[in-house]
Amino acid sequence: MAQASNPKRTGANFRCSECGWAAIKWVGRCAECQQWGTVAEVSAAAAPLRAVQAVAPLAEHLARPVTELEDDISAHWPSGIDEFDRVLGGGIVPGAAILLSGEPGIGKSTLLLEVAAKAAAAKSRVLYVSAEESLSQVRMRATRTGAMEENLFLAAETDLASILGQVDAIDPQLVIVDSVQTVSSSQSDSLAGSPSQVREVASTLIRLAKNRNVPILIVGHVTKDGSIAGPRMLEHLVDVVCHFEGDKQTGLRFIRALKNRFGPTDEVGCFEMTGSGIREVADPSGLFLSRSRRPVSGTCVTVAMEGRRPLPVEIQALVVKSSAPNPRRVTNGVESSRVAMLLAVLERRAGIGLSECDVYVSTVGGVRLSEPGADLAIALAIASAHSDRALPHNLAVFGEVSLAGEIRPVSSASQRTGEATRLGYVSRIDHSAESIREALRVAFTTSTSARERELDDAF
Ligand code: TYD
Ligand code: MG
Repeated sequence: MAQASNPKRTGANFRCSECGWAAIKWVGRCAECQQWGTVAEVSAAAAPLRAVQAVAPLAEHLARPVTELEDDISAHWPSGIDEFDRVLGGGIVPGAAILLSGEPGIGKSTLLLEVAAKAAAAKSRVLYVSAEESLSQVRMRATRTGAMEENLFLAAETDLASILGQVDAIDPQLVIVDSVQTVSSSQSDSLAGSPSQVREVASTLIRLAKNRNVPILIVGHVTKDGSIAGPRMLEHLVDVVCHFEGDKQTGLRFIRALKNRFGPTDEVGCFEMTGSGIREVADPSGLFLSRSRRPVSGTCVTVAMEGRRPLPVEIQALVVKSSAPNPRRVTNGVESSRVAMLLAVLERRAGIGLSECDVYVSTVGGVRLSEPGADLAIALAIASAHSDRALPHNLAVFGEVSLAGEIRPVSSASQRTGEATRLGYVSRIDHSAESIREALRVAFTTSTSARERELDDAF
């Protein structure tokens, strides 16, 4: 008690520059965000606070009814890349600071060069500042991806002040800075990429965007664990955060808006990396289905929602007798905890014992499914693999499976159904079954008999 009232004990004099965590003594590693070397002493305890007095607002700043405000919301300006505009909520807003995050090598520079080229082709002056690559490297990429536009200005700069100078000289209508971690300000003596540098660089660039009313696209690398390297606080500073992700092997890329002050955050843009740059994939349906339309045991198609777009995805499962004391559960594209739960539900609610089997579950194309709507398809694929009986080849299912074994409806059912029908998946069991047991019965009574399979094979 005595301690709490001691004023000396309440003032923590060390603070993490990354997350704001306070400590009473210096430590090498922040206990909150686990960053090394970010805890530093803050200047002497702040002066005691005095009660704040009300200040009368100036007449022109007095709060007004929302209905009386002029609509000066800046119009979205299409980037010319529909899949990117879809994520941005219609296009780029003048004065917006947009952060494009992603792992190194995922294709951020390639996409932004494409955005720059499209804008330049539409007669906007674009300044592309590369702080990572030399001019000749960027030029080489521009040649390869067809970005040779005379309104596209390239500069290789790592110094923040020089970048501001370039902006003054070129007076661009769009600025791209690649990347925030490799630019540094001489005002701060820490290294490029350190939290204080990143914050300084980002806030200067954001101020630049606001002052000139010019949109600015900033690249930020993320670490393996998905946090934007070092500067999580960047997410709070910018208007829009787009995350670029995908499987490096397949060439497919998705962009999601994690934050958007000018539009929804549930949209996803789909792209493909090709030898000559990044290409939009306007209709990704069919990419995540296997080629074979013949019934194969252990596979089931679901329709997931990627943003507001329905995306049919095939789930494949393999169940084999385990020789290990702890059977293996290997998943790719689906959460292993979700699969563990479905295995338990199958065992308790449908009498399908899998505790002595190795279970492998994967999505075709490695697409990541995180919504519970995929539950039913995962459960059916596992049951089908276990019994070695194929489900009907024109069956698509979606539904959440509860711990009680009930099937719960999911959102956007009519859009999912529409997309499944468009691709020829006309058989569904979502309305006729209320429990997993019932769903299994319906699925397997309509499942392809051996005779039908022979007929299919004959053709
Ligand atoms: P890049 O845009 O440099 O990634 P980031 O800026 O996110 O680090 O792209 C890196 C990868 O993309 C590289 O491994 C090669 C591949 N790539 C293509 O497949 N096609 C192309 O036209 C280009 C320019 C790159
Ligand atoms: Mg790059």
